[in-house]
Formats: sequence, C-alpha cells, structure tokens
Amino acid sequence: MFFYSTEVLEHFKNPKNVGTIPDANGIGVIGDPDCGDSLQLYIKVENDRLVDVKYLIKGCPAAIAVASALSVLVKGKTLFEAQEITDDDVVKALGGLPEIKLHCSNLGANALYLAIKDYFDRKGRTIKIKG
Ligand code: FES
Repeated sequence: MFFYSTEVLEHFKNPKNVGTIPDANGIGVIGDPDCGDSLQLYIKVENDRLVDVKYLIKGCPAAIAVASALSVLVKGKTLFEAQEITDDDVVKALGGLPEIKLHCSNLGANALYLAIKDYFDRKGRTIKIKG
C-alpha cells in the first residue's frame, strides 16, 4: 500500500498544460517499455525561452502528475535553465513519490531533453542531451 502526496493528487486531478502546440518547434516522445506508458512533450521556443509547454500522456496517476508538474516547472524558463531540470526536481515539486512509483518520474525530464534536442536538431545544431 502506498499513498500519494497532496501535490501529486492535485496535478493528477487537475493536470496543467495538457494538449498539443500546433506550431511547436520541439517535440519529445518517450515511453516506458515495462509498463507501456508514454509521453509526448511539445515546446514552443522563442528567444531561447520556452514560452509554451504542453503534452499528451498515457500513463498512471504518478506519470500524469509528473508531466503536469514538469510543464509548470519549465514553462517560461530559458533553454539553459530547462536543461538543468532533473527527475529529482520534478519529484521534489510533487512533494515526493512513493518508492515504487519513482520510475514514473523518468518520463518527464527525458521527454523534455528530447524535445530540446529536437529543437536544436531542427536548427541544424547538435547538442548532447542527458538521460
Ligand atoms: Fe508506467 Fe507509472 S506505471 S509510468
């Protein structure tokens, strides 16, 4: 038996920034092969800043809360600041996750790194991403 924090339950019941960005200039898609959950993260970058972040997710309550919290954390940040966001930052923003659900946090930051890489790829620039 495990319990979710108030923050996880709030993000799960009222997820923020759900949807797509039709003119996104970076998209990160990632799945967890063990559980089959997946996350598509859309970013709109202007002047090196993430002016919009949205996502579509198929996942457990923890994964939904992770995607929602991540979107809130990174929206408005510069690309440099966004690249510094880690799984731990997202877990902290959620007031923690039960040990058995910690792996669900991997989807969030990794999708973000892939979206940022996609942004740079579209510009013909190569960057090394975390993950
Ligand atoms: Fe798949 Fe949570 S069980 S991400």
